[in-house]
Amino acid sequence: MADKVLSLVGLSTILFFCVKLFKLIVIYLRPSRLDRFHHVSHEEGPPWALVTGASDGIGRAFTYELAANGFNVVLHGRHHWKLSQVRDDLLDKYPQRTFRILIADASTVACTPCLGPRREDKEESASLDFATIQRELDDINLTILVNNVGGGPVNPVCLPVWESPESKITGNISLNALFPLHLTRALLPSLIRHSPSLVINISTMVDQGFPLLASYTASKQFLMATTRALRLELQMEGMGDDVEILGIKVGRVTGARGCTEPVSLFVPNAETMAKAALARVGNGNHIVVGYWAHALQQLGGELLGLLPTWFSDRVYIDIMRQERAALDGDTKPAKQS
Ligand SMILES: NC(=O)c1ccc[n+]([C@@H]2O[C@H](COP(=O)([O-])OP(=O)(O)OC[C@H]3O[C@@H](n4cnc5c(N)ncnc54)[C@H](OP(=O)(O)O)[C@@H]3O)[C@@H](O)[C@H]2O)c1
Repeated sequence: MADKVLSLVGLSTILFFCVKLFKLIVIYLRPSRLDRFHHVSHEEGPPWALVTGASDGIGRAFTYELAANGFNVVLHGRHHWKLSQVRDDLLDKYPQRTFRILIADASTVACTPCLGPRREDKEESASLDFATIQRELDDINLTILVNNVGGGPVNPVCLPVWESPESKITGNISLNALFPLHLTRALLPSLIRHSPSLVINISTMVDQGFPLLASYTASKQFLMATTRALRLELQMEGMGDDVEILGIKVGRVTGARGCTEPVSLFVPNAETMAKAALARVGNGNHIVVGYWAHALQQLGGELLGLLPTWFSDRVYIDIMRQERAALDGDTKPAKQS
């Protein structure tokens, strides 16, 4: 009897992983439906995409890929000089497209409830004005929004919560969670008007709570929960087919965030990552790992999750210990000879 139960459990487990693997393979074989969002409006002309965090890394790669696919692109970032370099290069490569620059520091979204009731004697802090952004983009046929901007706190990095400066934590949550949420809220009327349209939210494969990355992993999880909620809200209002809301989880990428690691199976460059993310458009899943080899890593993570918690906790702690040691090594002054 015990033998039968064991073989049944074994068979079910194998079947479960076969089905999972099959579904996974289908995701990466389905053709992209990006061209669904490439439609011309009588009043507002050719289709536009807005890419946040477009001056570097994966965001920059998104702009080239979207321009190659026929979209005009709004490049968002915080440094005009960096964005204008990208724009000039894009214009060289795609002279038939138009590019705009949008400047906004994504780490400065004021969280009104956190600030408490406004005091008359207190000067209002400089905060982002989403209504102005909305007006600035109201004359274009916006059909794609890529909420790419994000990342962990920099300088200092990889600290436990109690050692992280309050301002770094707040700024990081603004960057990864509040900015994409408010930007999407401000631009959804335009995206609905120009439907079919698309919102891509970029997250990370470590959004389930990683040590030394609390504000980053938690705010990316917030973004994925927002992705799901928004998709269901649109469905509730009968607009589920008008606006596709797609969450893309990203693993390690080189050529982004100053990472100079060589390209390998599990570490693609920013261009491959942006292409992979756009290839997942219309794949039928709403939150998906963008790049196929990262999906294999995720599958490994899920297998790890089947083991006792103390074991998987240990693995994650070890990974982050090594990460911190590598960072410490990078910042230590060179030894005097
Ligand atoms: N690279 C990876 O291995 C990896 C892994 C998992 C997830 N991701 C996710 O992928 C996305 C892109 O990451 P990436 O590695 O390509 O990043 P990156 O190379 O660091 O580029 C980030 C972009 O965002 C801009 N940016 C940063 N802070 C900003 C702010 N406060 N306001 C406005 N713009 C700001 C940067 O502009 P400046 O030039 O002005 O700094 C740059 O254009 C992020 O959401 C990240 O969490 C990346």
